[in-house]
Amino acid sequence: MRISIASDHAGFEQKQQLAEYLESKGCGVLDRGPDSDARVDYPDFAALVANDVADGSADLGVLVCGTGIGMAIAANKVHGIRAANIVREDFAALAREHNDANVITLSGRFVTFEENCKILDAFLSTPFGDGRHADRVDKIMALEA
Ligand code: RB5
Repeated sequence: MRISIASDHAGFEQKQQLAEYLESKGCGVLDRGPDSDARVDYPDFAALVANDVADGSADLGVLVCGTGIGMAIAANKVHGIRAANIVREDFAALAREHNDANVITLSGRFVTFEENCKILDAFLSTPFGDGRHADRVDKIMALEA
């Protein structure tokens, strides 16, 4: 599985750790930056990851900022993206199963690295539920038209 990952300055430290964690799990990791914890604007990095997922360069995206909220708002502006801001493990599985989320946004300031690893594990290992969920996701995507 190929994962595109990025952060802003608030998520930088965990982005570095999470990229290593993903590699240790055998994922292909496309690190879209930043390369330091210097102050940056999160929409710039959300766009890089969202575009990777939208154009098929990556299967899924991971974005880390202070809360994960700004990253989710920005990523969801890109057509084809269903980004979910997740701070607990069970919601990560539900975001995949019910919503077919293709980008997860995480909090680098309020959620520990250990907890974010569990959240990522659930996100990566849960398939889309299809069935009754498919029509609803189709309706979400129709809102882009
Ligand atoms: C940066 O201070 C902070 O606003 C950002 O990381 C994020 O939490 C925005 O949603």
